[in-house]
Amino acid sequence: MSVKPLVPISLQVNGRPVALAVPPSTLLVDLLREQLALTGTHQGCDTAQCGACTVLVDGAATKSCNVLALQVNGARVLTIEGLENADGSLHPMQQAFGRHHALQCGFCTPGMVMRGVAMAAEGVPAEAQAVSQALCGNLCRCTGYRGIVNAVCEGLQHMRAHAPGGAAR
Ligand code: FES
Ligand code: FES
Repeated sequence: MSVKPLVPISLQVNGRPVALAVPPSTLLVDLLREQLALTGTHQGCDTAQCGACTVLVDGAATKSCNVLALQVNGARVLTIEGLENADGSLHPMQQAFGRHHALQCGFCTPGMVMRGVAMAAEGVPAEAQAVSQALCGNLCRCTGYRGIVNAVCEGLQHMRAHAPGGAAR
């Protein structure tokens, strides 16, 4: 049996430089969860359908089960663990999820929050229909979505009020 060579990659994860060698077939979600212990990124379907694994790659919402680690070589990756503010307080999008009781089991929540954060830079209006459409790639089996949509609308309003331009980081 031939052993596949490891390939060196370097990237920035939650503001910290990371350099390591991985098998070429390594998925980004596995790199995050298994090699970097960032288990806040959840793994649901593994087929790019549920959105639980959503992270930001260079600011864009990305399903990390659908991307090879090699494809993010040199990129900036932001996960739910990197979202809190410098003083340790929760990001406005996280606070909005709490205020609107936008989670039950919480499995979808990291992906929903990251998708919501990405909407700020995408220019998605903070209103229910636009947010619902933008969330079409993120599935929740518990909440019925109303709280999630309301939370994302409020989170977007806060992000835009406090960071003109709406950048996540
Ligand atoms: S685990 Fe990636 S979309 Fe479901
Ligand atoms: S809160 Fe349970 S899947 Fe969304």
